[in-house]
Amino acid sequence: MKKLLVTGASGFLGWNLCQLAQQEWEVYGTYLSQPLAIPGVTLLQADLRDFQHLKVLFQEIQPAAVIHTAAQSSPNYCQTHPTESYHINVTASSYIAGLSADRQIPCVFTSTDLVFDGRNPPYRETDPVSPISYYGEQKVRAELEMRSGHGQVAICRMPLMFGAAPPHGSSFTACSGNK
Ligand SMILES: NC(=O)c1ccc[n+]([C@@H]2O[C@H](COP(=O)([O-])OP(=O)(O)OC[C@H]3O[C@@H](n4cnc5c(N)ncnc54)[C@H](OP(=O)(O)O)[C@@H]3O)[C@@H](O)[C@H]2O)c1
Repeated sequence: MKKLLVTGASGFLGWNLCQLAQQEWEVYGTYLSQPLAIPGVTLLQADLRDFQHLKVLFQEIQPAAVIHTAAQSSPNYCQTHPTESYHINVTASSYIAGLSADRQIPCVFTSTDLVFDGRNPPYRETDPVSPISYYGEQKVRAELEMRSGHGQVAICRMPLMFGAAPPHGSSFTACSGNK
């Protein structure tokens, strides 16, 4: 089976993706502060803001594809901590696109519909972005940096998601924490 690297495996989307993907891929998932176990998935601790650590991760795993879901995903937190959140939302995303480009492997990035201000829905992919929060601005910046360095980046602008959440986590329907 080909190897898939999923960042943010301890998060809401990454946790769900890992469980689906392990049926067809050899999946490696990363977490930062929430160690976890997912049957059939190799979990690794990694701070994605650390380029050297990321480089070693790519060298050791040799993934055939990457799905980058890790982020500071709380718009409120990003609004009050813009510099801190920039490092994971923009800088780390750029590192991951660069390392994927070096290996010529596809990289999926989870952006947000908050790249738009919401005043003129529905939006098309080609509509100009109009973020009104630091979180939205960071995702726009990450999209630009990732696409400029790598031809095989797929950007998914996700809406608000809900569903089953990891044991320690939260989802829209079972809200807790800082979301
Ligand atoms: N949830 C939504 O409704 C929604 C809507 C639109 C877009 N999105 C986007 O979709 C993606 C997934 O969202 P989500 O709700 O699944 O996020 P989440 O539940 O908040 O999970 C975030 C993940 O990122 C990891 N992380 C944070 N900082 C990190 C760092 N410095 N190094 C390594 N890992 C780090 C966390 O690890 P630990 O928990 O182990 O610390 C966790 O696994 C994000 O890019 C988000 O912006 C989400």
